[in-house]
Formats: sequence, structure tokens, C-alpha cells
Amino acid sequence: MSQDDLKRAVAQAAIEYVPEGCIVGVGTGSTANFFIDELGKIKHKIRGAVASSEASALRLQGHGIEVLSLNDAGYLQVYVDGADEITAHMHMVKGGGGALTREKIVAGASARFICLCDASKLVDVLGKFPLPIEVIPMAQASVSRQLAALGGQPVLREGFITDNGNLIIDVHGLKIANPVELESALDHIAGVVTNGLFARRPADVLLLGTPDGVKTMTA
Ligand code: 5RP
Repeated sequence: MSQDDLKRAVAQAAIEYVPEGCIVGVGTGSTANFFIDELGKIKHKIRGAVASSEASALRLQGHGIEVLSLNDAGYLQVYVDGADEITAHMHMVKGGGGALTREKIVAGASARFICLCDASKLVDVLGKFPLPIEVIPMAQASVSRQLAALGGQPVLREGFITDNGNLIIDVHGLKIANPVELESALDHIAGVVTNGLFARRPADVLLLGTPDGVKTMTA
């Protein structure tokens, strides 16, 4: 079974979590793309979607799904997205695709977060995947110095600009023992827009793609 097969399987399973007539919060990335394709098949059963990136908005519209702004949509019943790493406590590292800020906004405005991952992303401790941080461009050097002081190795994501016009610094070498604490600490560095730890608002349900089928996990 390929990784794409596992992603497709969790995307199909996620459709069960989409209430009829709702506006769906939609994440970003290759797994979210599989979910968007599944959503296209039931588009007559939903009112529309709120996208966490320009790329997801385009894909949703390509399926004929109406994309609403979060301001117009209000509080959402469900948000569906992938992750780069996740623990059994439902704490995640996200932002490999650089959409972390809008993802965190839409996730925070949703009653339920359904996370879709293949089994390789379930870890005991977060941090093997470099932690993405979105920064205001003028703060890149000063934020990098402060990240280094915390014990990480900050690397600027070359040639990448976020949908919000900012930069991404990927922090390597962090062993994240307390994700809730670190998420708050990183948010207090001036110039940081968002960090890729999703721990204060963890996922509610993890649909994990394994060769033996889709496993459902909750914290
Ligand atoms: C994008 C994200 C994605 O959810 C994360 O990178 C996982 O992507 P993929 O499904 O392609 O493995 O956070 O900003």
C-alpha cells in the first residue's frame, strides 16, 4: 500500500465527520487535497468551505465548492487537515506546507479538529520534523537568534513567501517535551506571527492510515 493509498483512505474516512448542510474548514497539503477531492463527491450535501490557503481554495473551487471567508462563515462545526507530526495526546507539528497561520486560525474557529495522517507521522515526542515558524520579514534575523538561544537550529525556508506575505523559519533539532509551554513561549517572540505547534488547541480525532486500515484515535 502506497502512502497515497493511506492518505486517500483517511480522506474517505473523514467524510463521516462532515455534518450535512455544514460549512467545512479545510486544511492544506497533499492529505488535505485528497480530502478536498472526497468533499467534491458530496458537495451537494454541504453549504461550502473555508480554506486555510489559496491553494486549497483553488482546489475547492475546481470541484465547484463555494469558498467562504471565515468572517462570513462564523463558527465552524468541523475542521479537517493533515499534520507533519502528531502524538497520542493529539499535539501536532504543522506548517510543512507553510499554511500554518491560516490553519491555526480556522482550526481555532472550529468545534472539532479531525486530523488525517499516515502511520509514519505518529510520534512519541515532537521535533524530528523541523518546526515551522512564520515571521514578519524585518524580524527574521532577530527571531532566528532567539530561536537559536532556545536550543534550535533555525533555517530560513529559501524562496518561500506565505499567503500572508511573510517568511518561514524551520527550526531543526528541538526535542519538544512540553508542546503547550513551547507554543506559548514562541508566540511571545516579537516578530513571530505563528508557530507550527498545535498543542493548546489539539486535534479532537486522529484518523491514522495504516496497512491494516484506518485507526481512529482520540486523546
Ligand atoms: C501545511 C500543513 C500540512 O497539513 C502538513 O504539512 C502535512 O502535509 P501533507 O499532508 O502533505 O503531508 O501543515 O501547512
